[in-house]
Amino acid sequence: MINSEDILQQLEKKLSSLSSDPKVQNIGVVERNTDGVIRASGLSRATMGERVEFDGNTSGVILDLDEDSVSIILLGGGDEIKEGDLVKRTGEMLSISVSEDLLGRVIGPLGDPQDGRTRIKKGKQMPLEKIAAGVVEREPVNTPIKTGIKAIDAMFPIGRGQRELIIGDRGLGKTAIAIDTIINQKSYNKNKGKSTGLRPVVCIYVAIGQKRSNITRIIGKLEENEAMEYTIVVSASASDPAALQYLAPYSGAAIAEYFLEKGQDVLVVYDDLTKHAWAYRQISLVLKRPAGREAYPGDVFYLHSRLLERAVKLNAKNGGGSITALPVIETQANDISAYIPTNVISITDGQIYLQSDLFNGGVRPAINIGTSVSRVGGSAQTSAMKSVSGKMKLELAQFAELAAFSQFGSDLDPATASALERGKRTQEILKQGQYQPLPEPLEILSIWAVTNGHLDDIPVDRIGKFEKEYHQYITRNYSKLISILSAGEKPSETVLKEMEKSVTGFKKVFK
Ligand SMILES: Nc1ncnc2c1ncn2[C@@H]1O[C@H](COP(=O)(O)OP(=O)(O)OP(=O)(O)O)[C@@H](O)[C@H]1O
Ligand SMILES: [Mg+2]
Repeated sequence: MINSEDILQQLEKKLSSLSSDPKVQNIGVVERNTDGVIRASGLSRATMGERVEFDGNTSGVILDLDEDSVSIILLGGGDEIKEGDLVKRTGEMLSISVSEDLLGRVIGPLGDPQDGRTRIKKGKQMPLEKIAAGVVEREPVNTPIKTGIKAIDAMFPIGRGQRELIIGDRGLGKTAIAIDTIINQKSYNKNKGKSTGLRPVVCIYVAIGQKRSNITRIIGKLEENEAMEYTIVVSASASDPAALQYLAPYSGAAIAEYFLEKGQDVLVVYDDLTKHAWAYRQISLVLKRPAGREAYPGDVFYLHSRLLERAVKLNAKNGGGSITALPVIETQANDISAYIPTNVISITDGQIYLQSDLFNGGVRPAINIGTSVSRVGGSAQTSAMKSVSGKMKLELAQFAELAAFSQFGSDLDPATASALERGKRTQEILKQGQYQPLPEPLEILSIWAVTNGHLDDIPVDRIGKFEKEYHQYITRNYSKLISILSAGEKPSETVLKEMEKSVTGFKKVFK
């Protein structure tokens, strides 16, 4: 009986004797296939991220280069690949075909349609891995991307080209924030930003390691809200191979770069990078890479940083486009100092931190004001929003402190009591339902009304109703005010008078 080890050794010997032969440098021999991760000798000229081919049309991508062997992850299928099979270089980096045709579609990380609809026409090949733009091509973030969520737009504004992390435990509304942000782009995309001066935004939602049913539900919501027209969904579900889950966010980035090259603004959501890190850990364990903290390989940090570095605001000379990234991270027991969360926090420009006690207490979105931050967004807020949101954050922080303190005593001095009452109303007005992103003028009017005491005489449990009906009243009777506020300028004295008039007028009819 022939021992397979012997065959392999003979082959290797032959290979090394031929190693100056260019043919050998471009061809390798499979040493083993472990759960879709291939180790192969030869291929001495192969490069990281290069696509390779096996017999029978199976493709793989090079993930690891050693002195005399390479590691390859298979891109679907390939169970039949075994020791001794040949693998050859293609000389191409792994790429995805991108064109406008992808808008409205659901695809896998390699561009294959997953929505059961027609084939997708061939477009431009965009490499999955790309070195991010350098500093000279960039400019500082200077334009908002509006989430339509009051708490975020007012206190943690996100700029085009920024990386803002959405982080929190399971089921606290992380995805909801990302999806609402996508839905909110509809108003800018529909009228091509005419009244607001904000350009349309192409949206990409990358679902990584989620349950298929969950992804289907999200797509349904995007369709229902007419957001699929300008959105591309890249999907690698929990039931897809780890290799595809690992590649999905890079596909998202590659698609984003296609539109960036055309000078457009893009929003890309990576939901979520915790599961992405798991997929990578799984692959790495199979590759027998040395495990580090929490069994992740040492380069898991680099994995996410090279992805998020691709978020960018290009200067006019380079087309002026942007990629805004909203990575999502799931924490356990609200622990933001675990390994993956701290890694990603350190490579983003801020985080929206969702907390379970807030969520359970009915504060939704459950944003923790104290630990959330947007480090570059301030310069990306309109003057109109800035003028009303300034003191709200401070008031809320004070409120949190007073609320904790006042639990111990019943006799509060009038100043404290009124600050508490105001705080309750501010917190109340920042509550916002899912799939209800608001246009900026309405966000501004809500925030302005509460911080200027116009809601002090409204019972806290009626604030939600008040706000909803106030918005309807404004929309019906103050269209001019709305269009003035849409322009983003700081409200003048006359405009402020008009705002006062609107709220006092409404209070007369609000029962
Ligand atoms: N602003 C909101 N108002 C009311 N309900 C909300 C709000 N945001 C989210 N929810 C609800 O909270 C639940 C969890 O939301 P979501 O799926 O977005 O959370 P998640 O953090 O992404 O969860 P997972 O960790 O499972 O991905 C859903 O039932 C959703 O409808
Ligand atoms: Mg989610």
